[in-house]
Amino acid sequence: TFKPLVFSGVQPTGNLHLGNYLGAIRKFVALQEDNDCIYCVVDLHAITAQLVHDDLKGQIRSIAAAFIASGIDPVKHIVFNQSAVPQHAELAWIFNCVARIGWMNRMTQFKDKAGKDRENASLGLLAYPSLMAADILVYRATHVPVGDDQKQHLELARDIAQRFNIDFGPKIRETGTGVDMIVGEEPIHGYFPLVEPLIGGPAPRVMSLKDGTKKMSKSDPSDLSRINLMDDADTILKKIRKAKTDPDALPSEVDGLEGRPEAGNLVGIYAALSDRTKADVLAEFGGQQFSVFKPALADLAVEVLAPITTEMRRLMDDTTHIDAILKDGGERARARAEKTMNEVSDIIGF
Ligand code: ADP
Ligand code: NA
Repeated sequence: TFKPLVFSGVQPTGNLHLGNYLGAIRKFVALQEDNDCIYCVVDLHAITAQLVHDDLKGQIRSIAAAFIASGIDPVKHIVFNQSAVPQHAELAWIFNCVARIGWMNRMTQFKDKAGKDRENASLGLLAYPSLMAADILVYRATHVPVGDDQKQHLELARDIAQRFNIDFGPKIRETGTGVDMIVGEEPIHGYFPLVEPLIGGPAPRVMSLKDGTKKMSKSDPSDLSRINLMDDADTILKKIRKAKTDPDALPSEVDGLEGRPEAGNLVGIYAALSDRTKADVLAEFGGQQFSVFKPALADLAVEVLAPITTEMRRLMDDTTHIDAILKDGGERARARAEKTMNEVSDIIGF
């Protein structure tokens, strides 16, 4: 069977927000304790929606700084940027030939990001999930902590792995590169693991502060819709005060959040930030007005985020240090990825 290995990535596209932190980075930190982890700044993904960026290098450094400021250890684990390891793109090409166009056409993120003018979206945007599968599988990683918005992409990574394992079954045996694994109940001999998504907690998808039906996102044009990791305490308080809610008091039971997406979102954020369940938070705040709950939430958000913000700023002032971390991580990642690509070449017959 496969040795457990955690992989995940964040795009260097604009401000990191509370959704990225709660949905991804905080989980990255927690997983380090018991696992071998690889955390990647996915710069090749950043050019799929928009090719030209003002300061891509600065953005890459700022994600690396956020990882480290949040508590990721780049010595025990690996922190690097994707383009430093060309094997990601190489395996993605193979996966483009494994995946079917029909699979890609069903991806809801592609539909959202491409918008109405789909004919004008880049081919890279369509192939994005195939590169994401390569990011993970070039290390034969088994576990992927992400937000709930990435669930469909991880299912696709499983489909690609499974198709590869089946299509090349005899070659995998012949080359002696495969591993025995159990898929469902079935014993299988394959080269790539079927990755397990690690999604969950009280806020698996953090929603916009302006619209409880849309996810909090870097690409939302309204800055009031999100809390950025670099926001100061006053800004956080102002944004939470202005967050959309409804006129009713908070319910005392989770059922009472039904049909109240904005209230549910704020309670979920409070629960995630305090490591409690929503039920527990409502046991404390049920019956209270938002005029009471919002300042409490803002205080909590500041308490959790302020140390990270301070450390991020300090790290970003020392670009030589960040660049050295990325270079070292890139070299260690590349050594692992090269091994995989040598084996994949043998399996395919290059
Ligand atoms: P964005 O979607 O803001 O462009 P990325 O695509 O780089 O950010 O996502 C980085 C990580 O953050 C992914 O694991 C993604 O699932 C997670 N994530 C992004 N937005 C949210 C959100 N609103 N709630 C929870 N997790 C999120
Ligand atoms: Na995303």
